Amino acid sequence: MKTYKEEIADLLGPHTGLAPQEIAFAITLPQHAGHGDFAFPCFPLAKKLRKAPPAIANELAGLIKPTASIVKVEALNGYLNFFVDQTDFARRTLGRIASEQAAYGSSRRGEGKTVVIDFSSPNMGKELAFHHLRGTMIGHSLSKLYARAGYKVERVNHLGDWGTSYGKLIVMFLREGLTEADLAAMTIERLNGLYTAFSQAATADPAMEDKAREAFQRLEAGDAHYRRLWQAFKDITLIELNRIYRFLEVEFDSYIGEAHFVDHMPKTMDLLTSKGLVQKSQGAEIVDLSAHNMPPALLRKSDGATLYITRDIAAAVYRAETYGFAKCLYVVDNGQSLHFQQLIKVLELGGFPWASGIEHIPFGLVLIKSEDGGWEKGKTRSGQASLLKDVLEAAREKIEGIILEKNPEAAGKEALAMRIGVGALVFSELKNRRLNDIRFEWDQALSFEGDSGPYVQNAHVRLCSILRKSAEKAGRAKADRPSENGTDGIDFSRFPEPQAQTLIRSLSLFPDKINTAIEANDPCPMAQYALEIAEGAHGFIHSCRVLGSAEEKDRLFLIDCARIVLGRTLDMIGVPPIEEM
Ligand code: ARG
Repeated sequence: MKTYKEEIADLLGPHTGLAPQEIAFAITLPQHAGHGDFAFPCFPLAKKLRKAPPAIANELAGLIKPTASIVKVEALNGYLNFFVDQTDFARRTLGRIASEQAAYGSSRRGEGKTVVIDFSSPNMGKELAFHHLRGTMIGHSLSKLYARAGYKVERVNHLGDWGTSYGKLIVMFLREGLTEADLAAMTIERLNGLYTAFSQAATADPAMEDKAREAFQRLEAGDAHYRRLWQAFKDITLIELNRIYRFLEVEFDSYIGEAHFVDHMPKTMDLLTSKGLVQKSQGAEIVDLSAHNMPPALLRKSDGATLYITRDIAAAVYRAETYGFAKCLYVVDNGQSLHFQQLIKVLELGGFPWASGIEHIPFGLVLIKSEDGGWEKGKTRSGQASLLKDVLEAAREKIEGIILEKNPEAAGKEALAMRIGVGALVFSELKNRRLNDIRFEWDQALSFEGDSGPYVQNAHVRLCSILRKSAEKAGRAKADRPSENGTDGIDFSRFPEPQAQTLIRSLSLFPDKINTAIEANDPCPMAQYALEIAEGAHGFIHSCRVLGSAEEKDRLFLIDCARIVLGRTLDMIGVPPIEEM
């Protein structure tokens, strides 16, 4: 069956001389009810036809004959507005959802292409801070979006497991006279304690920094004892990291981080040297980027130590060789923009053909209200970053309180409260445009009304609960899934209510929204879309009784389709699509 856009292209083609793809590409979706279902802007034609857009629109409206599915064409302010037959529209939209089920919205746009997504990538030896959540969830969401568009996705956690900070930990470990037994019993909290102790010691005695650098040099040189300590510190951090990722329901395909590329340094330096990029400067080795208005990329310090960017260059080469990527996205905060501009420029200058597929996906800060009412970058009073685990636990606790208040019987719902808490935090971050800084407010994030995670999750719960009640009524144990039985017996003319039409129209937009989100490399449009569906679902349920109505069968079908789309949407933005509250 042709899509509406294709049909409109057929109607317009003969009168405009435009190719079908050109027309389909130009068609927009009117924002106002009453402006039709699809619109074609006549502005681009003005030059070609030497006429004003409104005149062109009027003329075309007179020439086009309605069809069975496109029942009316109207000219308005230079646009041609197309109105479709609502029964036909419902049949097509819901029929497609029912036949594709959870695969609805999948496309083949990325077929045969691989996208590497580097996200979360925290520095080891420390716990995840609250500010890590945003990048982690943007990356997680992008990985779901690209997968749905048919790409092969490689989710890479480029662990920050190399650098002077390891020197600091080793220095402190030895200074405190810790033993193998202490190492075996080491926890992430203890490790963080070593960091704090180092900072304190270094304030009192600046020579500590030199000691840390020396220790790191020994580590880079391959000292067996230091390597063993380093490995233990990393293992301890990974265990804690994975505990948090499990709460967030986030997964990775690779944890190959910076340390892996230490052995690649000589060949990376040789490669860049062979391309004529490397220069000596005061004993260090650099790539001069002054012609590109950037400070030099420092590849190797005068003491021989390699750097973050050198390891990133090696990692990019490795990814190109291992994955043959079409795109390699780095989801890393704004603050590292210069680093990525330099990285991309060095790779471009190196003439690597795949460099054009590399893109930095920056994002803004998450600000938290401080004691004095100002907004700060997620610090607690002591000036330390608030730990993500504490924020998650606080969210879980607060949600549990709300649940128990509403329903005292609902005890023992810790896991559920955690999933709602995660949804609340994640939604509050992803509903904003990626580049905007955001102001995090507990009340807003946890509210069950308004633009919040609990609100969109609750809409999904309501849809599920109607389907469960429908099954209970008929004595079936499992919740009903009427859309799985096909469209036979469904009367698509029984959705005349504006609330039903609004909801169906929203459901039809899912594939477009995925494209929009991918084009912007931003989950925000999907989060906004989740709100749209949730509102549509609440609106429909509120005004149209489902169970026990004359239209019960048709309405249950719509409810089930809405459940599928909302469930997939929530999953794609990392908000757990829970079925019961
Ligand atoms: N570990 C770095 C940090 O915490 C982020 C790494 C991002 N990925 C990369 N390939 N540079 O700042």
